[in-house]
Amino acid sequence: MSTHIGAPSGAVAETVLLPGDPLRAKFIAENFLDGAECYNEVRGMLGFTGTYKGRRISVQGTGMGQPSLSIYVHELFSDYGVMNAIRIGTCGAVGESTRLRDIIIANAACSDSSLQNQRFGGLHFAPSADFLLLDTAWHASANLGIKAVVAPCASSDRFYDDNQNWKVWRKYGVAGIEMESAELYTLAAEFGRRALSVLTVSDNIATGEECSAEERQTSFRDMMRLALETAVRI
Ligand code: HPA
Repeated sequence: MSTHIGAPSGAVAETVLLPGDPLRAKFIAENFLDGAECYNEVRGMLGFTGTYKGRRISVQGTGMGQPSLSIYVHELFSDYGVMNAIRIGTCGAVGESTRLRDIIIANAACSDSSLQNQRFGGLHFAPSADFLLLDTAWHASANLGIKAVVAPCASSDRFYDDNQNWKVWRKYGVAGIEMESAELYTLAAEFGRRALSVLTVSDNIATGEECSAEERQTSFRDMMRLALETAVRI
C-alpha cells in the first residue's frame, strides 16, 4: 500500500500508461485491455491492470498539473517498481506548423513550475524523454499510419495563464503547452526509469480553435493505440 494508491505491491505492471483523467484510464481498461482489474479507487484516481496483446500493462490516472502527477508517479516508481511510464494527454498548440489533432511525442519538457526551483535552486535541469521509448513510439507511429511529430512541450502551472508564457516557449521551438510532462521526466531521471509523453493537440492557444467532441474521441483513440503499441514493443 502507498499513501495515495491503495493497492498491494505487485498490483501494478512494469509499464504504465498515465492519462490525466481517471475516467480515461477506465475507458482504456474497458476498451483496450483484456482482463482489466481496478487496483485503485482512492480519491477516485482510478488505476487498472490488464493485458494488451499478451503484455501486462497498467493505466493510472494522475489528475491535472505537476503536483498531482508527482504524487502518483513518485509512488508508482518508489513503491510499485514501475519501469516505464507513458503519459497520454492533451496539449494546446502554439507552434506555427502544429495542427489540431496532431500527435506530439514530447522529446523535452520546459516548465515554469516552482517544483523545478525547489529541486534545483539556481540550476536549470533539462527534463527529457527516454530515448528508447521515444524511438519506439516514433517508429510505431509510422508503422500504424498515425501522424506524429517529435517536438518539445512546456508544462505550465497555470491553465488560465494571463502572463502568456506560451509566447516565450513558442519563440524557442515549443510545439504544445500542457501541465504535467516536465515533472514526469524529472521523476524518471531521479528514479532512473523510462518516461515519455504522447500528446494530442486539443486546442490552439494562439488562434483559440478547439477540437470537436468527435475529433477528440478519434484522436484520443489514435494516441491510446500508439502508447499501447509502444508499450508492447519495448
Ligand atoms: N494549456 C494548458 N494545458 C492544456 C491546454 C492548454 O491550452 N490544452 C490542453 N492542455
